[in-house]
Amino acid sequence: MEVNPYLTSSVDNCRIIELAQHRHANGNLTVVEDNDPIPFKIRRLYYTYDIPGGEERGGHSHRALYQLVVAISGSFDVVIDDGKQQRTVTLDRPYQGLLITPGIWRVLNNFTSGAVCMVLASEHYDEDDYTREYSDFLELTKDKR
Ligand code: TYD
Repeated sequence: MEVNPYLTSSVDNCRIIELAQHRHANGNLTVVEDNDPIPFKIRRLYYTYDIPGGEERGGHSHRALYQLVVAISGSFDVVIDDGKQQRTVTLDRPYQGLLITPGIWRVLNNFTSGAVCMVLASEHYDEDDYTREYSDFLELTKDKR
């Protein structure tokens, strides 16, 4: 039987992954090569930028998608929610990414001016993979509570 990610997801499985850093007097460089150390095959990269002050992003969950969220410039908060527990993670280092597993509601907020949010994703864009209404998310996770 297919595992329902909305019933198995936990914010405790969303963790910071450190990316390789090369630090030099003339500046630093971070690299991801052949997925290492990311625990999914990268099929997509996108980034959000020019986010007006006070705006939020996200506000949805995914059924199958894994993501690694990186503040490649500036900082922002990621509020993750498994339907039972919530946690807020501040991202402010271009060499650290937050792994978000399937079945997790996320809201990104408190963007600093000029912040850039880069996301590595395990699947191609698929609107059918999204749950965009929080009431639907609460319904999908209700057996956890
Ligand atoms: P969305 O995932 O809701 O953005 P965020 O989580 O940053 O708030 O996507 C916003 C819009 O962009 C939505 O209308 C679909 C489009 N989009 C794509 O076409 N391809 C993509 O890979 C992504 C992430 C979004």
